[in-house]
Amino acid sequence: MTDRYAVFGNPIEHSLSPVIHTAFAAQTGQAIDYQRHRIDVDKFSAAVEEFFNNGGCGLNITVPFKLEAYRLVQELSQSAQRAGAVNTLYKDGGRLTGDNTDGIGLCNDLQENLKWSIKDSRVLVLGAGGAVRGILLPLLEAGPVQVIIANRTLDKAVKLVSQFGTDALDRRIELHAHSFEEIRQPFDIVINGTSASLDKQLPPISPRAVSNSLCYDMMYAAAPTTFLSWAAREGAKSVADGLGMLVEQAAESFYIWRGVRPQTQSIIAELR
Ligand code: ATR
Repeated sequence: MTDRYAVFGNPIEHSLSPVIHTAFAAQTGQAIDYQRHRIDVDKFSAAVEEFFNNGGCGLNITVPFKLEAYRLVQELSQSAQRAGAVNTLYKDGGRLTGDNTDGIGLCNDLQENLKWSIKDSRVLVLGAGGAVRGILLPLLEAGPVQVIIANRTLDKAVKLVSQFGTDALDRRIELHAHSFEEIRQPFDIVINGTSASLDKQLPPISPRAVSNSLCYDMMYAAAPTTFLSWAAREGAKSVADGLGMLVEQAAESFYIWRGVRPQTQSIIAELR
């Protein structure tokens, strides 16, 4: 029987994961079947159990189940532990194991695909929710000189800074929390990890922050996001949305499951 994989979420209709993993499988000669499933919000753990009991090999987990998956597993990778969320599930020696590939996916897209150098750069991260927590450790590991986390609710940014303070200190990285209003200085890289673009809204930061920077929105859409359109108008050096991150996090999951690393650039280009 073909090895079965799937993505669980709600909503899930627009998920590109089946297309991406099917393309990885074709490219690497791996025989897998990958489906998407919309899971009722109160039936997540039962659905996971049923999937693995019926011989399923691995799951991707997306909104709104990443925290529940984190709580459900028996084993956590270090990145899932620090992210506080799980996007990749598999069985390891019979134990349900959770990993998180979002942060490495973002860093691979920035550094390998876009050739934006994080090392020694000043990075502004907008937002302090689950998505941002998921990327902080890989971002710090890439060696910027400064990371500023700015959020509408300042307390949440302060909490993240304290959770990752030692990681920053060990690497001599300046890590601070600010309100949006305090952001007036220029940055090398600005990463929008808020969900504001979903509502066509903009974090109210000074245009100076983006006017000479590389600007990334962790969301992707057919049209440029509200944040990226604004940044481009304000003179950003380059802008990119989260499609590459989506493909890169999928590639890391594929590698965890299959032990084979797919080529991502042709698939990103095809999806565009
Ligand atoms: P996710 O998993 O996408 O991170 P989340 O944990 O709900 O979801 O976090 C959403 C993030 O987007 C938060 O940082 C939120 O700011 P608050 O912490 O102040 O709620 C931010 N956000 C959502 N809508 C926003 C808006 N219109 N303007 C600015 N920030 C917004």
